[in-house]
Amino acid sequence: MPSTQPNIIITGTPGVGKTSHCEVLAANTGLKHLSINQVVRDRGCHDGWDEEYRSWIVDEDKLLDSLEDELAQGGHIIDWHACDLFPKRWIDLVVVLRTDSTKLYDRLKARNYLEQKLQDNLDSEIMEVLLDEARESYDEEIVVELRSDEADDIEVNVGRIKTWIKNWRQDQVEDAA
Ligand SMILES: Nc1ncnc2c1ncn2[C@@H]1O[C@H](COP(=O)(O)OP(=O)(O)OP(=O)(O)O)[C@@H](O)[C@H]1O
Ligand SMILES: [Mg+2]
Repeated sequence: MPSTQPNIIITGTPGVGKTSHCEVLAANTGLKHLSINQVVRDRGCHDGWDEEYRSWIVDEDKLLDSLEDELAQGGHIIDWHACDLFPKRWIDLVVVLRTDSTKLYDRLKARNYLEQKLQDNLDSEIMEVLLDEARESYDEEIVVELRSDEADDIEVNVGRIKTWIKNWRQDQVEDAA
């Protein structure tokens, strides 16, 4: 039976505001916020810790096995800085958040990122790496690029995603009829 709730990926370069968006969206919709960082850590879906990058070395097979039952049911918001590993059949919408590089620099600086990591992330944002990854991995009609420069953008974006969810649900009802 098709799911009655969509799965949505919120992706983008570190610091663009994925978690901030997911928290507001989850509180507004009842969809479940899946922070992939937390899943990787809590369920041990990794091959250890990368000291240089200060992040877990993700075991993608373990991660996907661990998420399969939840994602097959629908109703999840996936919060992560990559998107191409999630099979198309599980994903209904991919939101790529974008931030002006000066603003992103300030946000990453405030987190005390090492200079190299900060520069890598800024380059990635300027080169639209995540947007390309999303467009290469999913059908173009389900990939949406949204600005995340100002605090007000979060409210506007969440409003747009809520409208999209409403339409998606309506389509499911009509398709089933
Ligand atoms: N649209 C926005 N306007 C202003 N500040 C924002 C906006 N979105 C996020 N921020 C701020 O930027 C910082 C990073 O936000 P957040 O943690 O949501 O990013 P993230 O994309 O989840 O990062 P990561 O990939 O490292 O998890 C936070 O301090 C947050 O308050
Ligand atoms: Mg985050």
